[in-house]
Amino acid sequence: MAIDVILGLQWGDEGKGKIVDYLASQYDVVARFQGGPNAGHTLKFDGHKFVLHTIPSGIFRKGLVNLIGNGVVIDPITLRKEIGKLGDFVPDYKERLFVSNKAHLILPTHRYIDAASEAAKGQEKIGSTLKGIGPTYMDKTGRNGLRVGDVYSPNFKEKYEKLKEKHMGLLKLYPEYEFDLESEEALWFECLDTLRELKNVDGEYFINQQLKEGKRILAEGAQGSMLDIDFGTYPYVTSSNTVTSGVCNGLGVSPHKIGEVIGITKAYCTRVGGGPFPTELHDETGERLREAGGEFGATTGRPRRCGWIDIPQLNYTIMLNGVTQLVITKIDVLDGFDEIGVASGYEYNGKHTDQVPFDICDGEVKPVYEMHKGWNTVLTAERDFDALPEAARRYIKTLEEKLKVPVSMVSVGPGREQLILRAVADVVK
Ligand code: GDP
Ligand code: IMO
Ligand code: MG
Repeated sequence: MAIDVILGLQWGDEGKGKIVDYLASQYDVVARFQGGPNAGHTLKFDGHKFVLHTIPSGIFRKGLVNLIGNGVVIDPITLRKEIGKLGDFVPDYKERLFVSNKAHLILPTHRYIDAASEAAKGQEKIGSTLKGIGPTYMDKTGRNGLRVGDVYSPNFKEKYEKLKEKHMGLLKLYPEYEFDLESEEALWFECLDTLRELKNVDGEYFINQQLKEGKRILAEGAQGSMLDIDFGTYPYVTSSNTVTSGVCNGLGVSPHKIGEVIGITKAYCTRVGGGPFPTELHDETGERLREAGGEFGATTGRPRRCGWIDIPQLNYTIMLNGVTQLVITKIDVLDGFDEIGVASGYEYNGKHTDQVPFDICDGEVKPVYEMHKGWNTVLTAERDFDALPEAARRYIKTLEEKLKVPVSMVSVGPGREQLILRAVADVVK
């Protein structure tokens, strides 16, 4: 069996949680492979709303195994809160939530360093979610980190103290930053008990065994490809590999095992935090997109920046990920727009280009727009592609032609069932 992958093709918040939750019923295992509580994946079903940060979005499907892979960074405090919110919906979470021993731990001091260093950057701040992601991955690559499996070590406390002392030294660089470590530290140690209650496994053996047994596995990406540490809009990125290759490192599977790569894009584009965003609309239209799309961060509540869909950007991330099918979400948000913009290329240094330039951060990238006719029809109750208004079908087909990947699903609302499914064979490649 192969592992199918779902990931975001823009700057995050594409609707991954909703799509994973929907598709999960067709799988045996859902696995997160990177990121951590910077993610906020929203699921809506049967009148309930959940926002997951660390727990994979397959948790609400009966009997399904959920794995937090080695590539993820875990804050035991957030994890415990999240488990608490599952309430009666997942009474058997201890049986179904597996955690890799090699996943790294976010310490309270990682969060403090994140916050202090962001504050010190002033105007140039990344706009981090302040969950301690960057400092934790820095300790991982710096070979100082603590991992889930370490909590079973008799000298865990010693290892913790050593890392904490290193962090305290770093925090002296930010004397104006205040924090109350004592209470957070006590809570952190308490929350490690919750982590120990879960199934702590050698995730790489676990997942390969599942594959051997013919189990169907779905890898759930976090963030978006434009936030990838290598290929994103550096330095305005997160600290992990959010693209398909992250699945191999973040779960311990061979590239041969990757099956379908399902790339998700909104029907327009958003970004939260700092950094370049060529198609951002600073006008009334941008404001309308934010209002219609409810574009406020699921993790931090910050307003998301909004703009039109960006073809060079999507072609770039489709190439990086090897996307085999596309999911377009939030098309209903465009319901009331007379005209919809599509950036078909860029003007860069006086020349036309279809590529994302190296230094997209210099603000010289000017999108070239094609305007498409809107449909002025409410799509939220639609379930059949052929019944869509012609302008909506044309919009989807235009994207398909420009991106050269079939659109297998179109999401018309936040609810689990608000989806239009298309057999990929019906789709013009
Ligand atoms: P994720 O991080 O990729 O899982 O996405 P988020 O949960 O951060 O943000 C997506 C937001 O859009 C959430 O509030 C979802 O409930 C909502 N959403 C997902 N799909 C649709 C859709 O097709 N239409 C509308 N209107 N909202 C959607
Ligand atoms: P999901 O999985 C949107 C952004 C932050 C910031 C940058 C670095 O819900 O799509 P970090 O906390 O990782 O150091 O922040 O990345 N960011 C996200 N933006 N969705 C996310 O996750 C994000 N996770 C991080 O806003 O600009
Ligand atoms: Mg999100």
